[in-house]
Amino acid sequence: KNIKLIEVPSEVGAGTRGASLGIDAIKIAALDFMSSFFIHFPSEKIQHENKLLFEPIESPYAKRIKGVITMCEKVSKAVAETIKSNFFPVILSGDHSNAAGSIAGVKIAKPQSKLGVIWIDAHADLHTPYTTPSGNMHGMPLAATIGEDNKESSVHDLDSDITKCWSSLKNIGKISPKVLPEDIVLVSLRDYEKEEKHLIDKYDIKVITTKEVRNKGVEQVIRQITRYLSDCTDIYVSFDVDSLDPTISKGTGTPVSNGLREREAEDLVSKLMQNRKVCCLEITEVNPTLDKENLMAEIAFNILQRSVNVLLMS
Ligand code: ARG
Ligand code: MN
Ligand code: MN
Ligand code: MN
Repeated sequence: KNIKLIEVPSEVGAGTRGASLGIDAIKIAALDFMSSFFIHFPSEKIQHENKLLFEPIESPYAKRIKGVITMCEKVSKAVAETIKSNFFPVILSGDHSNAAGSIAGVKIAKPQSKLGVIWIDAHADLHTPYTTPSGNMHGMPLAATIGEDNKESSVHDLDSDITKCWSSLKNIGKISPKVLPEDIVLVSLRDYEKEEKHLIDKYDIKVITTKEVRNKGVEQVIRQITRYLSDCTDIYVSFDVDSLDPTISKGTGTPVSNGLREREAEDLVSKLMQNRKVCCLEITEVNPTLDKENLMAEIAFNILQRSVNVLLMS
């Protein structure tokens, strides 16, 4: 496969500052390993939009949603163009909110696809502006992707401007829903609110715990995921580094205990790349300002490099 890197140095959807530096930190990690990885691939950088952080927060239940929409639109176009010109997009992003744009991009390039999503993350990111406990948009990309409001779990009243913004986010790429809940697999999920649990139960969304990864082993878990998504035509893989255990590194905004080991995550992501249906990989949420000695970026780089090596061979 031909690889193209798409860099999205934005942290507009995160609640803690610093994730927009994650990509540069990964590049520094590569230099520390004496690796010339980053000079080998064509890359595209989506315009740095931290200025969006200074726009007024329109609603406490969807902070900087207009900035997130701006970013998602740009990302979706870049991803769609990349796939259409026969490259495999590897997205490095600051915060997870832009995954709504990445998935939209895949769907724009492959409108007929039945798209599966493998979401490796401590969180479900299934909140909506109606249910969010934080207002941070990085907790919402999967809900936007499945076109969900979750009004039946609503805890906030929204004004019409925010309702409209949420509709535009769901409709990026002019296709909604982009993914069905039955085609999602949440891996290493361990921190979610009851409103997200409601959706997981309602749609019977597939969850694979850290314990299952450890006990069954990565190979068996991958077989299980592949079988589960067997009627999908294409698969998008999202790796949020907070799926890793916080004892490994503190370099992410929302760490949660009982996460994956470095080796487990590396094996899991890289071996998933052997699956021919996998058409896009995203690595996100590295925040070097919270870290010591750039550890999280080093781990993310190792995972990136091994995954890309597998992609190059397939
Ligand atoms: N569920 C929490 C929230 O909505 C945490 C979300 C964290 N998401 C992430 N991509 N790190 O605020
Ligand atoms: Mn996430
Ligand atoms: Mn997360
Ligand atoms: Mn199915």
